[in-house]
Amino acid sequence: MNEPIRVLIVDDILETRENLRKLLQFERGLEVVGEAETGAEAVRRAAALKPDVVIMDINLPDANGLDVTEQIRQRDPAVQVVILSVQEGREYMRRAMKAGAYDYLVKPPPIDELLSAVRGAGQTAHEERARQRETGSFARGGEAGGGEAGRLIAVYSPRGGTGCTFVATNLALALKSPDTAVVLVDAKLQFGDVALVMNVQPRRTFADLAEVEELDPDLLSEVLLPFPKGDIHILAAPLRPEEAEQINPKTVAEVLQHLKSLADYVVVDTTSVLDPVTLSVFDAADVIVVPIGQDLPSIRNARVAIETLLGAGVPKERWILVLNRAVKRSSITPERVRNYFKMPALVVPDDPRVVVSLNKGEPLLLMQRNSPASKGLLQVARTVRERLLQLAEA
Ligand SMILES: Nc1ncnc2c1ncn2[C@@H]1O[C@H](COP(=O)(O)OP(=O)(O)O)[C@@H](O)[C@H]1O
Ligand SMILES: [Mg+2]
Repeated sequence: MNEPIRVLIVDDILETRENLRKLLQFERGLEVVGEAETGAEAVRRAAALKPDVVIMDINLPDANGLDVTEQIRQRDPAVQVVILSVQEGREYMRRAMKAGAYDYLVKPPPIDELLSAVRGAGQTAHEERARQRETGSFARGGEAGGGEAGRLIAVYSPRGGTGCTFVATNLALALKSPDTAVVLVDAKLQFGDVALVMNVQPRRTFADLAEVEELDPDLLSEVLLPFPKGDIHILAAPLRPEEAEQINPKTVAEVLQHLKSLADYVVVDTTSVLDPVTLSVFDAADVIVVPIGQDLPSIRNARVAIETLLGAGVPKERWILVLNRAVKRSSITPERVRNYFKMPALVVPDDPRVVVSLNKGEPLLLMQRNSPASKGLLQVARTVRERLLQLAEA
């Protein structure tokens, strides 16, 4: 384990903080990343600094260190807390353990005891983080500029076969970074094929969320399938088309709202039918990516669809056009598309590796990040990020 153990010191007395800092900072493998004086500050700093270990005083001016411990660990279960208290006794120790503390030491702790507690706690935190990475659990970073809520990107085309599923799956992977959580939703409730092209066997699907009276966040997290290779989660479409009928648009809206509070980016693959479910996806969407083909019917339908939705109140800056499977020799150039739609179109070239990736069940971005289509997709992801930031600032 060569990563340093990152420590946050919480105590209202400056001298205590300084003494602890002096004691720890010259220890190999330990790094003091910050200090906090109050409970509120401790919660904020823990969220911002992501320490491995918090050394926590019990008597804080605004809160009890045990409550603060609970709050910090609720947000980040990997972080370990070593409590320092002037109170001695079994009962205090028991309460500390109940609050989720790693260890409980009486002030002032003998140096070797403190160091061994911090090192043990740090190792536990590192192991816990490694385990989280493997199972792909959530760690929202707030990167999308949303502050509280995550951002939703719908991928829609009025015509099947233009590459919605291809774009949605790879866009979800492209938006993933170490400190963002991403969920990919298959809202093509009948015949959705996200799970298939990602090569995951859905144990649970959207159908498990139908007919629930009140959406329970625990149930929702259980229905999400981890996709460890890309460190994202998937909400799969029902396995059978008749199950789709039981899911009403209101449920879809609620599910998407919940997912936005769990993840930084929610990417939604949709069906080409403008049905109530698809419309509730648009309602929740911050941007809508529209893949179009290099043929007139595809382009004309996309324009009609966009005009209809502009009329229904989805403003122009929410749309991102993608000319997919583009070949150079076509007379339908990106330039002509731009003139026709009065907005620019990104280009994802036609790429034989896409079929190879589909047949292998491995998303293109994970298989070949340097292929022409991958480069196009990464450009789509950059544009989505920029657009979301612009919309957040506006
Ligand atoms: N950039 C591309 N290059 C080559 N083939 C592509 C590309 N994009 C999509 N395809 C192929 O087009 C077909 C339809 O794509 P898909 O994503 O399933 O469309 P949709 O979800 O809109 O129906 C797939 O077989 C896929 O392999
Ligand atoms: Mg599809």
